[in-house]
Amino acid sequence: MMKGKTILLGVTGGIAAYKAAALTSKLSQAGANVHVLMTESAAKMVGPATFQALSRNAVRLDTFEDSHPGAVSHIDLADRADVAVITPATANILAKMAHGLADDMLSTVMLATTAPIYVAPAMNVHMYENAATQQNMQTLRDRGVQFIEPGVGLLACGYVGKGRMAEPEEIVDVLKAHFQEKMSGHLAGKRVLVTAGGTVERLDPVRYLTNDSSGKMGFAIAAAARDMGAKVTLIAGKTAVSIPDGVELVNVVSALDMYEAVMSRFAETDLVVKAAAVADYRPEETAPGKIKKTGDTLTVKLVKNPDILQELGQRRSTQFLIGFAAETERLEENALDKLRRKNCDLLVANDVTREGAGFGTDTNLISIFDRNGLVEELPLVSKKEAAERLIAACCETHVGSRSSSRRSDCFCSYGYLSVLCR
Ligand code: PMT
Repeated sequence: MMKGKTILLGVTGGIAAYKAAALTSKLSQAGANVHVLMTESAAKMVGPATFQALSRNAVRLDTFEDSHPGAVSHIDLADRADVAVITPATANILAKMAHGLADDMLSTVMLATTAPIYVAPAMNVHMYENAATQQNMQTLRDRGVQFIEPGVGLLACGYVGKGRMAEPEEIVDVLKAHFQEKMSGHLAGKRVLVTAGGTVERLDPVRYLTNDSSGKMGFAIAAAARDMGAKVTLIAGKTAVSIPDGVELVNVVSALDMYEAVMSRFAETDLVVKAAAVADYRPEETAPGKIKKTGDTLTVKLVKNPDILQELGQRRSTQFLIGFAAETERLEENALDKLRRKNCDLLVANDVTREGAGFGTDTNLISIFDRNGLVEELPLVSKKEAAERLIAACCETHVGSRSSSRRSDCFCSYGYLSVLCR
């Protein structure tokens, strides 16, 4: 959710400024582009060099110190921000923001930005409860500033009360929820078809060929697409998890059943994600009764199943196609070969030999490819997170190739899913 987002992190002169360093690190690790703005007092608490090293961006203190002569840095930063967060926020910065003062870099940028602003106050309990502070906070709330409430506990000044800055993890969660919420309507009105689980190819009434797919990956993708407003149909083979609410479920057994279920819905679908593990072969015949034990060996003849994804790739018109590849070797080479052969827009490769990745696990280690190569490689994350990231990747700006001088709220209009937004 954070990847590529520009976050302005305002740090003011509270003892909790050290927590802002941990926050900078967490946001940067999550892929955000963090720009730290410090007040002079903050720089007395923690050195700017710490924030610079953690964010890999120059730290701004002085309004008049323009690094690029071609840009007015406080306006440039204010314009580029996806979100601004001030943490710790002292009573002083709250008062300045409430009264529209702009006498240093941070307060000037806060006045200039139209990005959503979050504030995590931290101060002595009496300063926090003071009517002036409370009124300033109410003024800011009325203007849409969102507060991440301080906790109650032992304060740095020795008092016990409300005023402890929220923990960095809590602030990260708030920002994640913010970006998730922003994306929630991006697939509104779109019809998404997800396949999940393993197919079952019957030998006889009691025996079958299948695989270890649990359906977890596909189900997480269905839930992520639903959360972004899509109407989701989930075509599920053999699974071991309960289906997500709010999606239409179609149960299938064999690859041929899945083929029928997918093909009959393809024309009215906008986006297909093929996370199912489909059997490449099935027994030529399914015995009507239990196969008896006879000789020392038994030969079963297998015939090829249709490759559903490949056929979708041939039939597609406006549909966006995402395939999966379960690989045990030469991940990138095999993934790109499948992507091209099956005519997909994106292909998600998972090396199923890696610990925590692939079949049955709650986590996965995925790499997303497009025709030009690697788009994104995720670390080991929950299947939920991988699914959210995959669906978000569909909607994101194709970095470099489709530039826009100003950001647009509907990034679908120039993202991968431009085809869906026409
Ligand atoms: O279900 P989980 O336990 O959560 O495990 C997740 C997973 C490992 C099953 C999933 O992440 C995954 O990798 N799914 C694809 C498994 C697979 O069949 O990969 P493949 O490389 O054999 O197939 C490539 C693509 O072609 C897949 O999108 C597959 O759905 C599709 N295919 C394959 C064969 C076939 N006959 N028809 C198809 O459509």
